[in-house]
Amino acid sequence: MAECVLQLKGINKYFGKNHVIKNVDLSIEKGEFVTFLGPSGCGKTTLLRMVAGFYEPDEGEILLNGKRIEKIPPYGRNTAMVFQEYALFPHMSVFDNIAYGLRVKKTPAAEMEKKVAAALELMQLRGMEKRFPNQLSGGQQQRVAVARALVMDPEVLLLDEPLSNLDAKLRESVRVELREIQQRMGLSTIYVTHDQSEALSMSDKIVVLKDGIIHQVGTAQEIYFEPKTPFVADFIGTTNLLKLTGSGDGEVRYGNIRIPVSRSVSAGVVYHASIRPECIKLAEKPVEGMVHVPVHIENRMFLGEKVRYFVRDNNGKSWIVDMFDPGRDLLEGDVYTVFPAAKVWIIGEAEE
Ligand SMILES: Nc1ncnc2c1ncn2[C@@H]1O[C@H](COP(=O)(O)OP(=O)(O)OP(=O)(O)O)[C@@H](O)[C@H]1O
Ligand SMILES: [Mg+2]
Repeated sequence: MAECVLQLKGINKYFGKNHVIKNVDLSIEKGEFVTFLGPSGCGKTTLLRMVAGFYEPDEGEILLNGKRIEKIPPYGRNTAMVFQEYALFPHMSVFDNIAYGLRVKKTPAAEMEKKVAAALELMQLRGMEKRFPNQLSGGQQQRVAVARALVMDPEVLLLDEPLSNLDAKLRESVRVELREIQQRMGLSTIYVTHDQSEALSMSDKIVVLKDGIIHQVGTAQEIYFEPKTPFVADFIGTTNLLKLTGSGDGEVRYGNIRIPVSRSVSAGVVYHASIRPECIKLAEKPVEGMVHVPVHIENRMFLGEKVRYFVRDNNGKSWIVDMFDPGRDLLEGDVYTVFPAAKVWIIGEAEE
């Protein structure tokens, strides 16, 4: 079994009456890159700060290499955190900012210089070591903050939206490099973001949070293709959420349209299901062997590599359909959405 570096057990956190983290259980393996993903205010920073030691949980245990750490202050844990608002020391140069933790640990000068130089190189900050934070752009400050954490060789590296101020191109390249060094060093990392493409592209494991509750923990593909709640299905990528009724015999129905499913379903029970826009095509006629739903095209957006159609069916439900390699002739009027039954993912029973 893989070695577990960090464990959260039954974590609860309140701010006054506001219950912001609810019964969180999570374990992180050594060398794993784990992303906390969720909308603004869902508790990502709060959870990260508890791991770093800046907040104490009201209930629960945090174990680092099997030892309880909830009562240990930040500097006594072997974690390093990059804050959402970078928190650089304004009166210190870039070099001194990055070297700060190493100085506190009384690292020999030669080793310190080597580590700082490597971090400067990595974060594409070479030549800026003498500048002060107010002489840097937001993106450069953010990279200094990452470098400052990296040089510490922490047991767990904690990054709170560390690339949010970088322009798209730089973000992409720093993302790739960060992931590469994380893998090379075998650095256990928790990365916070609300950018789903960042989460999907970087993570070994994604933790999807909403209102302080973990909705799902899984690989990028599990989260994308096998969402466990309607929230996860809708938050990651774009999807069509449907309500389908079990009709027994391995079949669900959408109105009077039958859809065979490979999991067991109970007759009369209503299920949430999801089908991605890229799994559907529009056609003027029903297609043999496929599910087809008559729809009316209401709107469309030409996006170059694809056309995104907004269509509505006879139940009044609107669908999104992405047609790739669209050519110049766009569809209009009454058509069918056409898709293989296997592309319909049954999320679970609907409450009502
Ligand atoms: N120090 C604090 N005192 C009181 N309430 C707080 C405090 N910090 C956070 N909260 C509240 O706790 C909840 C979770 O906040 P948190 O900062 O963890 O969210 P987040 O997921 O990091 O959001 P964002 O993506 O906007 O950074 C929010 O409702 C927030 O208002
Ligand atoms: Mg935050």
